[in-house]
Amino acid sequence: MTSRKQAPTSPPALSEYNVLLADPAVREGIARRDRGRPAFDPPVLDDGTRNAFARQRLKNKRGNRSDGSSEIEPGAVTTCAEATHCAHRRGPSRPGNRARLGLMEIVTSCDRPDLKREADVALRGKWPEFLFPHDPVMMRYEAQVAEFFAQYDVLMLEGDRVVAGAWGVAIHWDGTLEDLPDGYDDTMVRAVKGHENGIEPTTLTYMTVAVIDGETGRGLAGKILTAVRARGVAAGLSHVIAPVRPTLKPRYPLTPMSSFATWTGKDGLSIDPWIRTHQRMGATILAPAARSMVITGTIAQWESWTGMVFPETGRYLVPGSLGPVDISREEDTGTYVEENLWVQHL
Ligand SMILES: CC(C)(COP(=O)(O)OP(=O)(O)OC[C@H]1O[C@@H](n2cnc3c(N)ncnc32)[C@H](O)[C@@H]1OP(=O)(O)O)[C@@H](O)C(=O)NCCC(=O)NCCS
Repeated sequence: MTSRKQAPTSPPALSEYNVLLADPAVREGIARRDRGRPAFDPPVLDDGTRNAFARQRLKNKRGNRSDGSSEIEPGAVTTCAEATHCAHRRGPSRPGNRARLGLMEIVTSCDRPDLKREADVALRGKWPEFLFPHDPVMMRYEAQVAEFFAQYDVLMLEGDRVVAGAWGVAIHWDGTLEDLPDGYDDTMVRAVKGHENGIEPTTLTYMTVAVIDGETGRGLAGKILTAVRARGVAAGLSHVIAPVRPTLKPRYPLTPMSSFATWTGKDGLSIDPWIRTHQRMGATILAPAARSMVITGTIAQWESWTGMVFPETGRYLVPGSLGPVDISREEDTGTYVEENLWVQHL
């Protein structure tokens, strides 16, 4: 099932180029690349200084803590307007800040903090409750990811309405199966630690994408991922991968991902609609991500997250899970290990 074949890197259609070139972040990345500067060269501000983000990166390159703790200085928090990778500079009132996608717009979340609540309500509820916001790794690193990778956290607007959201991170990956992160959680850790330690990233990793209820099936997910990918490519990243959570997998929770990923229809594409979307974008399947996320909680927590009761020790299938949850009455714990599927776009 696994494949070392590079994903075909077919160029976007002409209309996609127009969308991408309308994105100021992409234009800025291309201009920087064409000037021959390193992809993540810390920018120098108008007054000749480097911003807090850049100072932190330089500091990290010079010396790091051995305990692995966060090295962000108090007071050195990068604001949205300062963030190196937040190419747009705040404000819905500045028309130049917006990327036009027909009637759609792509904006970074930090450009439009006013949309945070709407985006949270519309998009966060698209996953089972036990997953978000109860993944401890995500809770631990969420703020750093938002700060370090703001340019890959985008919303798609139709008019003034959020219709989709996606975010990704940049990691160092050498292109081999052996060097793939364990999955979603491990990618977050690698992204944050790599950034803090000044390790040059090579790879954009799509982390999540969601389309609001009522707007699915229009191809919006592919469009927003394409916009994120263009930002990564313009920043000099040479690979694009994703630990995919197949949307049909909850119907087959007892089937290992290694089998599920091989199930194809007559067209040779996956039977899973979400894997299919990635394949249509040119992605190839790499390998299962066996320990993509690990969620633990007390039995009371699991009962509240799932609306079920767990009277005995054993394995349970809960709504929305891709595999079973192990419940131990003796230890008062429930443990769920989510298996995802690595795909490679570039
Ligand atoms: C998965 C998701 C992002 C897909 O977005 P999208 O814009 O609808 O994607 P597409 O338009 O490319 O549709 C993909 C496929 O799913 C199908 N689909 C979309 N919405 C569907 C629905 N509500 N019910 C059944 N099938 C649906 C489409 O018909 C298409 O199938 P096809 O290959 O037969 O044409 C979106 O459904 C979503 O937000 N889901 C919840 C969050 C999630 O699971 N995200 C992915 C993991 S991070």
